[in-house]
Amino acid sequence: MIVIGGSASMDLAKELASALGCEIIQASTTAFPDGECYTRIDVEKLDDDVVIVQNTFPDNKLIEMLLLQDAVKKLGAKSITLVIPYFGYARQDRVFKPGEPESAKIMCKHLDMDCDRVITIDLHKESTLDHFTHPHKDVKAAPVIAEYFKTRGIDMVLSPDIGAAGRAKIVGDCMGLPHDHLEKTRLSGTEVRIKPATMDVKGKSVLIVDDMISTGGTIIAATAALKEAGASKVSVACTHGVFVNNALERFAGSPVDSILSCNTLNSSVSHISVAGVVAEAIKDAIAGKW
Ligand code: R5P
Repeated sequence: MIVIGGSASMDLAKELASALGCEIIQASTTAFPDGECYTRIDVEKLDDDVVIVQNTFPDNKLIEMLLLQDAVKKLGAKSITLVIPYFGYARQDRVFKPGEPESAKIMCKHLDMDCDRVITIDLHKESTLDHFTHPHKDVKAAPVIAEYFKTRGIDMVLSPDIGAAGRAKIVGDCMGLPHDHLEKTRLSGTEVRIKPATMDVKGKSVLIVDDMISTGGTIIAATAALKEAGASKVSVACTHGVFVNNALERFAGSPVDSILSCNTLNSSVSHISVAGVVAEAIKDAIAGKW
């Protein structure tokens, strides 16, 4: 097996290759003078099972992934497994207002062209993967998040909304702790309202888990509600730290006590590795388990 690291996910690709005990090849990606993507895998052939690791976010990384798939196929790969740590457009998974596209589906259709299987990590809605015609699996980061926080004095696990309640349950169950969820209403792309926390968090050290943090609005509002209700400490963990509009700086001046993400996207707080759980999913696939 050979792992190809795209420019968006090189660090994770290296860790994954090491977990799988296989060779890593880094794609050389630059831009043409007009800004279009140029990528090359500098080998004569790839006569092996190939795993491409590349986020499809931001847009230029999606283009790079599509080009890498074609290059890998032309180099003679026996099979192509896509590992998409952070799947761009996952949140536009349906038509919310007439005239909108079903963006997530369109991305699946294009990525589906040159591959044999697809692995994502905590995809916003797992059912999005049904748009792939090839075998697919959404790997859960909850067990590695739970493992990380096991010895860090957490009393309960919460999600900021009902959509992420399942994640809070898995993390809570893995840690042997109670779990619950808050009630969120999204007012706009950057604004959310969280209902005052009614659960008993007084004096408790709470861990909030979410699939992604983008502007940070959700987490800051959730933390404020919990502190208001008497929580002594609020730690935050997410799978995908997108952190747009200086979100990390906003956290520094907020009631959030600590923040961590998995390494699907690189940042100064992406310290929880998903390489091990992704490697297991690949080994299972090769063993014919899915
Ligand atoms: C929404 O359903 C997601 O699970 C996240 O809660 C949301 O995308 C976070 O966005 P933001 O950080 O901008 O509030």
